[in-house]
Amino acid sequence: MTDEDRNEMVVTPWEVRGKVDYERLIREFGTQPLTDGLLERIVKLTGEFHPQLRRKLFFSHRDLDTTLDLYEKGVKFVLYTGRGPSGPVHIGHLIPWIFTKYLQDKFKTRLYFQMTDDEKFVIEEDLKLEETTHFAYENSLDLIALGFKPKDTYIIFDVQDIDLLYDIALEAAKRITFSTAKAAFGFQESTNIGWIFWPAIQAVPCFIHTKLTGEKVPALIPAAIDQDPYWRITRDIAQKLGYYKPAQIHCRFLSGLGIGGKMSASEPETSIFTTDQPATVKRKIWNAFTGGKGTAAEQRTTGADPNICTVFQYFYFLFEEDDKKIAERERQCRAGETLCGECKTDLAERINEFLSEHQKKREKARNIVDKFHIKR
Ligand code: TRP
Repeated sequence: MTDEDRNEMVVTPWEVRGKVDYERLIREFGTQPLTDGLLERIVKLTGEFHPQLRRKLFFSHRDLDTTLDLYEKGVKFVLYTGRGPSGPVHIGHLIPWIFTKYLQDKFKTRLYFQMTDDEKFVIEEDLKLEETTHFAYENSLDLIALGFKPKDTYIIFDVQDIDLLYDIALEAAKRITFSTAKAAFGFQESTNIGWIFWPAIQAVPCFIHTKLTGEKVPALIPAAIDQDPYWRITRDIAQKLGYYKPAQIHCRFLSGLGIGGKMSASEPETSIFTTDQPATVKRKIWNAFTGGKGTAAEQRTTGADPNICTVFQYFYFLFEEDDKKIAERERQCRAGETLCGECKTDLAERINEFLSEHQKKREKARNIVDKFHIKR
């Protein structure tokens, strides 16, 4: 692979590579930008300008405006998001889940959460079914640790719950042609047929609320924008099946601690897993890519570049909610008043504080995970 290929932007549900140009994704995927007007509307309805909205972590949507129109007319929505359990959860995964919790708390609405052990098994060559099923269980502990409540949170474990999903999956699959799926996902002659059918299963939770309760309501999906191809094909068929088109609110990727690309469990040294121990977190942060200069002396005179710094990015998106403090950190960095070592030490400390609490809640979640199971 040449450097040029490596830098070229690729965003698909199974691969994110190169420098991601979010404006270009909005144009190419045909989504809508999350405008200030729409942000104001959310703030008005929720009474809070969530940090992830303030920092423009969420930047694009489909039909969020019409979903809010319906909401204001008294038609509620349900939330839907999910996880492909191919390994342990890293802190980048928590971003849309934390935001989902905020939406759930403010709009008092139900969440369907899909654990796609089936998807990861058919797609990932090296994973066995018992491994993805195991990760589905382990990953659900991370979700529960964020404070979701069983009363309005329903986790779907695909393999175990397939009987519940199958009729809707068939209705969806029957209406999606191979040529549509091929165009959306880039399937090849050599693609296994499990993978080709699978998108019908990711469509199901958009519609399952009606089956379970008889209520006809739209689903709003907070997720990273790489999942968009799934929603394009689902939106095409929704009305034919008598449902609302599912709406989306899309977030950016938290990049790994190396250069470029999103945080990926397949590159363990550049991802902070939720189960990492303090010394591991320190080591990973210590090796992170920053916007620092070759020598301390040079950095003191010319300053560093927070725009390209992964450490700054972690503060910005997750670990420093205070707008004044983040602005001050940025200023000091640009002015050469702080060196990278100081930021790294601060960040490792912040992350370890967060993880020590998270890990306790995660263990407690083992006792209550059954209460979240969609079949209960
Ligand atoms: N396909 C997703 C993944 O690989 C998992 C998933 C299923 C999902 N349903 C979803 C993600 C809804 C976001 C929203 O990670």
